[in-house]
Amino acid sequence: MADTPIFPRPGLASQLAAQILHQSPTSSSPSGVFLAAPRRTGKSTFVREDLRPALQAKGAVVIYVDLWADRHVDPSELLAVAIRTEMGRHGHAVQKIAKGLGISGGKVAGLEFSLDRIGIGKDVTLVQALAVLSDEVKQPMVLVIDEAQHALTSQAGMDSLFALKAARDELNSSAHHGLRLVCTGSNRDKLAMLRSSKDQAFYGAPLVAFPHLDKDYVAWFCEHVGLSAELAPEAVWALFEKAGWRPELLGAAADSLRFDFQIQPADVQERFSAAVAEQIDAAACETLRVVHALTPLQTAVLRVLADSGTQYRPFEAATLEKYREALSAAGESAESAPRVDVTAVQAALQALQDKSLVWRAARGVYALEDVSLREVLAA
Ligand SMILES: Nc1ncnc2c1ncn2[C@@H]1O[C@H](COP(=O)(O)OP(=O)(O)OP(=O)(O)O)[C@@H](O)[C@H]1O
Ligand SMILES: [Mg+2]
Repeated sequence: MADTPIFPRPGLASQLAAQILHQSPTSSSPSGVFLAAPRRTGKSTFVREDLRPALQAKGAVVIYVDLWADRHVDPSELLAVAIRTEMGRHGHAVQKIAKGLGISGGKVAGLEFSLDRIGIGKDVTLVQALAVLSDEVKQPMVLVIDEAQHALTSQAGMDSLFALKAARDELNSSAHHGLRLVCTGSNRDKLAMLRSSKDQAFYGAPLVAFPHLDKDYVAWFCEHVGLSAELAPEAVWALFEKAGWRPELLGAAADSLRFDFQIQPADVQERFSAAVAEQIDAAACETLRVVHALTPLQTAVLRVLADSGTQYRPFEAATLEKYREALSAAGESAESAPRVDVTAVQAALQALQDKSLVWRAARGVYALEDVSLREVLAA
């Protein structure tokens, strides 16, 4: 259980769980589902607090992995750890795997067979491990990968995705009990990379726009906020929309009022509105500060990338021309403008990555780290 109270969304969770587990006669091996929603709108909370129990209630074994859990650990390792952890719960499955490797003897499993041997490029592939697990639990399994696009940032991560595709096809055959993949991510451009090209593991998987928290959440918030006067749900809903449906901004605004003991109950609503506006400004300001500190070429590269979306080809002649146009639109004269060539653009892209504005997949495809940056740039 979370230590901060959470607004439960059982209806949405149960609908989604039913769809995820549904066996469609028209698609013999469902690819999985992608849930996309902007940052900080409650994806992970929903997946952990609502979706996981809903799937379990429908008889599935859920393996959850957050590829952002530790940015210093390769995503493939995080995935393998999650699968090993589930394995570890089923001693019999571990024994079977150990036997398969020729490690015999009546000793307690796990002593002579280390679960570290499961993973990409290891003795036991993810497919083998998941297949044994499936036979053991005899239930459908759902692998939920939070921030799935992060798998694209390393070669081993991409290999894991292919391994999972193989595992899914194998486990969804009549020999086993089914495997569903659920991926979440905050950036549609990035998630799109996982499913748009034929050589990608999730080619054609449906991308579902994950619904943001609704008016019921706002009503719940108003009921639980505990300020010295009640907030009007209608007014808070308008603020919540402006805040991009990010619960934290409402929470932070409430906190800033909570410790003001002088506040008159009649002023609470107005002060709360002002506090939310402050939170929204502060959030946008932070990004703007970083953007304003960029060099002219970095800004030009960022703008062209933002405008091109998934069509962005960083080093093509036509794109280089676009950078030059963006530079002159920004008031750089032909003499003062920085040199625009592949090396300079490469350096600019690297700098943008270092500032966490731009994200690069292992195969050199680029996307905005956060799509809300597009609006900030336009403003
Ligand atoms: N149902 C909910 N009830 C109350 N608070 C919530 C709920 N869902 C999310 N929040 C709050 O909103 C914030 C963001 O939630 P969460 O981390 O789940 O979002 P996210 O979309 O996964 O974010 P990120 O893009 O960083 O991964 C957290 O502080 C969380 O406590
Ligand atoms: Mg999250």
